[in-house]
Amino acid sequence: MTVEKLSLSEFKGAMLAIADGMIASKDLLTQADQAIGDGDHGIGMARGFEAVKAMLSEKNFAQIEEVFFSTGTSLLSSIGGASGAIFGSFFMGAAKGVKGCIELDAPGFKNALAAGLEMVKKRGGANIGDKTMVDALEPAVQAAMAYNGNSLGELSLQVYIAAEAGMQRTKTFTARIGKAKTLGERTLGFADPGSISITLIFKFFSDYLKQMA
Ligand SMILES: Nc1ncnc2c1ncn2[C@@H]1O[C@H](COP(=O)(O)OP(=O)(O)O)[C@@H](O)[C@H]1O
Ligand SMILES: [Mg+2]
Repeated sequence: MTVEKLSLSEFKGAMLAIADGMIASKDLLTQADQAIGDGDHGIGMARGFEAVKAMLSEKNFAQIEEVFFSTGTSLLSSIGGASGAIFGSFFMGAAKGVKGCIELDAPGFKNALAAGLEMVKKRGGANIGDKTMVDALEPAVQAAMAYNGNSLGELSLQVYIAAEAGMQRTKTFTARIGKAKTLGERTLGFADPGSISITLIFKFFSDYLKQMA
């Protein structure tokens, strides 16, 4: 059995599981950013998802879009720097894809992903090959669009697998954007930290759906 959709409270539970997972990934993300950046990515993401956890325990929600949007604003206001704006934009954009929904199903998640990617690209201007989180996010969105079933569990697994493959591909790219840009070819062989983060976000979401089934 796979999970077809999430109720509002289940989706809130999923966001909490993502937050816990990202906080636990702090060291891994720090190491990734120490290799080709300034080493603050793990600290930023952990701080951001601590803020998300606090927000989730304080707020009551009536719609799925509110969970997405408040997650985005919590990340934006607590992380700062490039990734605060980028990851904040992803969740705030995703909210636009699920307007009026009181549960999250596969079509809703597809719309949320597409709207999230659109906002990230509008805000950050990165394209495939620039060695950013877009290299993991865009193929994940494409995989979602290619999925025609109605299981949110299956869809989330496809999304995670595509993001992971995109993240692995960033090892073959030279950074063209952000702090890693100045290192040029020295970034070869290392995965972009933000692409690891977006892959982990999708992994924790997929894992949450798997343990529900
Ligand atoms: N313009 C952008 N578009 C998309 N993602 C970006 C952009 N700039 C940076 N990123 C992502 O942010 C990550 C770096 O995050 P972080 O280390 O927290 O911020 P900073 O670069 O300010 O130190 C990069 O690995 C990359 O994936
Ligand atoms: Mg950094």
